[in-house]
Amino acid sequence: MDLDENRMNSGTFPLPDRVMLGIESSCDDTSMAILSGNRLLGQFAAVQHVHAKYGGVVPEFASRAHQAHIVPVLEGVLDQAGCSLNDLEGVAYTRGPGLQGSLLVGSAFARSLSWSLNLPLYPVHHMRAHVVAHWMADVPNLPSGPMMALTVSGGHTQLLHVHSPLNMEVIGTTLDDAAGEAFDKVAKMLGLPYPGGPEVDRLAAKGNPEAFRFSAPRVDGFDFSFSGLKTSVLRVMEKELAGSTSISEVMLQDVCASVQATIVSMLVDKLEEAAVAFGLEAIAIQGGVSANSGLRSAVEALGKRRNWSVHIPPFRYCTDNGAMIALSGQYAAEHGEPGALNEAPLARWPLA
Ligand code: KG4
Ligand code: ZN
Repeated sequence: MDLDENRMNSGTFPLPDRVMLGIESSCDDTSMAILSGNRLLGQFAAVQHVHAKYGGVVPEFASRAHQAHIVPVLEGVLDQAGCSLNDLEGVAYTRGPGLQGSLLVGSAFARSLSWSLNLPLYPVHHMRAHVVAHWMADVPNLPSGPMMALTVSGGHTQLLHVHSPLNMEVIGTTLDDAAGEAFDKVAKMLGLPYPGGPEVDRLAAKGNPEAFRFSAPRVDGFDFSFSGLKTSVLRVMEKELAGSTSISEVMLQDVCASVQATIVSMLVDKLEEAAVAFGLEAIAIQGGVSANSGLRSAVEALGKRRNWSVHIPPFRYCTDNGAMIALSGQYAAEHGEPGALNEAPLARWPLA
């Protein structure tokens, strides 16, 4: 079903003041938020540090940490929002896609809450929710029409033609690594801690983006491929270091700046091509990598050059967050049916 596009075009998207809890547990962070309509009352998260020394998320550790964190995170978000369990009017949770064990903890918890408090339950698609985050009340530039949106996270890279919070189509995707994975893998090669994206971003700020030329194969259409980039970085590093095992701080900064510039231009070029091909004058980025300062400023610059409207959520709605899940639950409550208590999580779940 299409959401009323006239309402979107007039910029108003009224949601009743229903109080909705959102539970996100698809990967390594446990995050919950409580919303009234699309207004954030509180958001609380527990970050998992256990993975840092392994250079990536270890699924078994992730699900155990979710188990340890999930009750304190609920207490934290209730406290932040100034609510009690009795104030809740719905429970939304990430049903998928994501890590099976992590999803299982969040979904079992959400289903138990829904059953014990007799509240409607809303299973949410994680990738769709990243896009829905653009409609939070405290996002500075609410979408007012169709847009070309790029989701860039640790597990996914997707270009979407977005008509409304409930109506979007994937028009391009990555053929191999996700953009966040490319950042994380290069960071690992450089000996930086996990997650590597923010580290590369931090070091890139002091480096020269033109110091190194990294190449990646260009893919036709609106799909992406990042796996060649890792190999290119590895080759250049082998040549530059010529057997030495240590890398200078200046070289590290230059490599990070050059890698970041390469990834950003691959992403932004496709975003521009896709927006032109679909005749759209609004562009958006969302997902963990949209926290990247290079990507944010390149997308802003593209918007300025083309005179397009630009939508970038604040940091709190970029990385995985409970608010985007709760807001998706609000739209589902208005325009769909509640889910069933016996629905299993879906580690793989295409965004239809
Ligand atoms: O959306 P997200 O929080 O989780 C997934 O659904 O995957 O995205 C996590 C990804 C990680 O790969 C992380 O390195 C990347 O987002 N990331 C960044 C930055 N902040 C987070 N990548 C580049 N620059 C950043 N500032
Ligand atoms: Zn995500």
